[in-house]
Amino acid sequence: MALMRLLVVVAVAAAVAASCRPALADPAVSALPGLPVAGLAVGFYNESCPQVEDLVLAEMRAFVEKDRTLGPAMLRFMFHDCLARGCDASLMLKSRSHKGEQDAASSYGLRGYDEIEQIKAKVEAACPLTVSCADIIALAARDAVYLSNGPRYAVETGRRDGKVSAKFDAENDLPPPSSNIVDLKTYFSVKGLGWKDLVVLSGSHTIGSAQCSTFASDRLYNFSGKGVQDQSLDKAYAASLREACEPGLDNDTTSLPMDPTSPYDFDLSYYRHVRGNTGLLLSDQALMDDRWTREYVERMAAAASPDEFFADFAVAMTNMGRLEVLTGGSGEIRETCAAYVD
Ligand code: HEM
Ligand SMILES: *[C@@H]1O[C@H](CO)[C@@H](O)[C@H](O)[C@H]1NC(C)=O
Ligand SMILES: *[C@@H]1O[C@H](CO)[C@@H](O)[C@H](O)[C@H]1NC(C)=O
Ligand SMILES: *[C@@H]1O[C@H](CO)[C@@H](O)[C@H](O)[C@H]1NC(C)=O
Repeated sequence: MALMRLLVVVAVAAAVAASCRPALADPAVSALPGLPVAGLAVGFYNESCPQVEDLVLAEMRAFVEKDRTLGPAMLRFMFHDCLARGCDASLMLKSRSHKGEQDAASSYGLRGYDEIEQIKAKVEAACPLTVSCADIIALAARDAVYLSNGPRYAVETGRRDGKVSAKFDAENDLPPPSSNIVDLKTYFSVKGLGWKDLVVLSGSHTIGSAQCSTFASDRLYNFSGKGVQDQSLDKAYAASLREACEPGLDNDTTSLPMDPTSPYDFDLSYYRHVRGNTGLLLSDQALMDDRWTREYVERMAAAASPDEFFADFAVAMTNMGRLEVLTGGSGEIRETCAAYVD
């Protein structure tokens, strides 16, 4: 059922991509800086709000100093905003009938709603009704990476905010952690993102944590629904995970680092873990099941410097940041990011 639906989505998306975005990089090859999007530019607010990037960085620095788990949360936030209905801050919209993106199962564990709103308030005080929440989300994600010793790549701005937020968009378009490599590539290619975007952006899991409920069943207790442990998972690592995650609980909120050796450092160790069968999620391990993504994992795992990963990450985040954006006269600039859709 879900697969059928996905296939239909793929076919439709392929047709749409072929008809209106003919020059989009072949998702199978990918990776390349995709086509520029009219209305987006680095420094879109140079004239209208020159201090915006400094304001976002100052706020992000304060948040992370108080609670460093907020950095990874803000990076994940942009992924979830962009995959569901484009980078339009629709994730900030609330639904009284519980039918918004926030209510989707895929939004489980998301944090950062209050922080985005607080940054927005600071920006509004300096530049009223000028900067979109979608841009604030993209800038906050970049600064989360930077504050974890990652690159401070240039971020395109100029997005405007959407007025629609639907649970089914998030549920259909965000890959679950149980995804295999074919699922993952499909979810990404529907959006015009290729295998390289997938393997590079998955490198985000070099920071932050996941709750037992998102991986314990897949990897420790019920691999493929067979009631067993995932044989590809490193045995010693699995044993330590079993200590932390109770069997038979599908709501275990115990939170474990995805990169236990350096959970707040944006570095290459994610790729070393995936290569060494100590990646946490099934979707992380799945990157070893495709020739191209595996080669990338292996090359990054062996690399002496993170420079190539950092450069690739900047490109892939730019690609993701261009998904279905509203620019020019589309969408709106709200005074607050949160608003009720119903
Ligand atoms: C490729 C498919 C992906 C899957 C299946 C996936 C799945 C997940 C899951 C299940 C968690 C744990 C959530 C929780 O337990 O609270 C997580 C955390 C995270 N994800 Fe992903 N993710 C994917 C791609 C991405 C991408 C593209 C990014 C960013 C560009 C990203 C950034 C993060 C970050 C930073 C965290 C840690 C959040 C925190 O510590 O609060 N992920 N992801
Ligand atoms: C804003 O200024 C930066 C730095 O001078 C420049 O690189 C960028 O192209 C400018 N952007 C716009 C849209 O004017
Ligand atoms: C394991 O997964 C299968 C298939 O999804 C399910 O029928 C079964 O109840 C699960 N077992 C446990 C112990 O959760
Ligand atoms: C989690 O699930 C168990 C049963 O599986 C239940 O006893 C417990 O109350 C639940 N905890 C929460 C926080 O929902």
